[in-house]
Amino acid sequence: MDLFKKKPLEQLLAEANDPIASEAATHGTLKRSLGPVNLVMLGIGAIIGAGIFSLTGTAAAYYAGPGIVYSFVLGGILCALAGLCYAEMAAMIPVSGSAYAYSYATLGELIAWIIGWDLILEYAFGAVTVAVSWSGYFISLLHKTLGITLPDSLLVLTQGPWGDLVTLANGTQTHGVWNVPASFVAVVVSAILYRGMRESALANNLIVAVKVVIVISFILLGWSVVNHANWVGDPSASGLASLVPPVGPSTRAGETIQSFGWGGVLTGAGVVFFAYIGFDAVSTTAQECHNPTRDLPIGILGSLVVCTGLYILVALVLTGVVPYAELGVSDPVAVGIDRIVQLRHWSPGASKIFTFLVKLGALSGLTSVILVMMMGQTRVFYAMSKDGLLPWFSRAHPKFGTPYKATVLTGAFVAVAGGLLPMSLVGELVSIGTLLAFVLVCAGVFILRFTHPVAIRPFRVPAFWLVAPLGAIACVWVMTGLPRDTWIRLIVWLVIGFVIYGTYGRHHSRLQKAKK
Ligand code: ALA
Repeated sequence: MDLFKKKPLEQLLAEANDPIASEAATHGTLKRSLGPVNLVMLGIGAIIGAGIFSLTGTAAAYYAGPGIVYSFVLGGILCALAGLCYAEMAAMIPVSGSAYAYSYATLGELIAWIIGWDLILEYAFGAVTVAVSWSGYFISLLHKTLGITLPDSLLVLTQGPWGDLVTLANGTQTHGVWNVPASFVAVVVSAILYRGMRESALANNLIVAVKVVIVISFILLGWSVVNHANWVGDPSASGLASLVPPVGPSTRAGETIQSFGWGGVLTGAGVVFFAYIGFDAVSTTAQECHNPTRDLPIGILGSLVVCTGLYILVALVLTGVVPYAELGVSDPVAVGIDRIVQLRHWSPGASKIFTFLVKLGALSGLTSVILVMMMGQTRVFYAMSKDGLLPWFSRAHPKFGTPYKATVLTGAFVAVAGGLLPMSLVGELVSIGTLLAFVLVCAGVFILRFTHPVAIRPFRVPAFWLVAPLGAIACVWVMTGLPRDTWIRLIVWLVIGFVIYGTYGRHHSRLQKAKK
């Protein structure tokens, strides 16, 4: 058995274009319903979420100060390198398996399996992380903004048993039983995905419009009341360097950490990387686009450019209206809005309305992240199953044209894991899993340029000899900055993957069978 057997590029392309070749005709096929605007919206849908609405504040307060702006620039550059590689791959091999399928053609079956398994960390666990964050914002909207107090019997249903403690009416703290709002949003999103891609894209467009309007309003309202003194992290430095506070201690959760300086900016980039995750999910819709070779690069790079611009502006406004030391909270954008309202001397009523709108924007933003992440997961399962590496999922719904079995399983997984697990456990796992996928896609672009120099590339990475290796190295470098526990979890996850491949995948692989 050749574990590194590669799927011929020609076969992949034939499967993408000809459903009969992939035997999908007997199982129903995915419907082509997406154009360039939908793809950019899907990218933005997946990108803007928990990252900008909660991580920005802590990254500024503890690591980078106003220099968080540079962390966002660095994060944007890193993702642009990977995004360019994704764009080349997605246009060249427009199949729904994304990084998994590209690896099958470049690095062979075993690595493809690993990356497919690894993508579960990005997409399914990404959806879990954001579902838990959704629940947090939902409860905060009910309680802090609308003044609704839940009875104890319901409070314990707002956190999983391993999540944060809940505070009961008498002030005592206890463990939650099940995070019902997190499970609820997972079930609703699965129902939309089950129904159809066009419906999902429509729902996503509406949600994205709401969240982008909220983000832009935040920028516009805040820009004119920025206090320039807040941008000065280091008064002894001049020009743009003055944004970065000097190296020094800051206190996080009672623990003193050494941060700031350009090292702090780099650590901040690792933290806010999460905010960029998602643009690659666009590539999993390749078999549902009208014109994938032209539109996928537009979707991937377009959404990345829009979000990078918005993130940098949000970071500037946020650190401009609130001194960075006060930003170490889970809802920094809401804190920023409060301050903007104060600075504009608006009434407390106006403050309430704006906080309400920001939380609504955050909730809608998080919903679309969950939607696109779960959509990406189902398409990867679908592709792996068509190759025989996973059972059950290769069937598309005869009427709705969606991978419905994969949708049901993914929805059930996200609903259960979201009901039980805390955000802190899964968040960094999502980052490391995504970075690993990026490394392999960058490597794949590089390898294919040599192994298939004349293959048709509707989009070409400029200076690939520099961009692809730099992208891979930058991702590995960010990975090395993640905590040891996260590495251990990644390794355990991959070992579980090996066992499944050894016991199921390699015996059922279509490619291996075809060889015999
Ligand atoms: N980029 C997505 C978010 O920030 C994962 O929620």
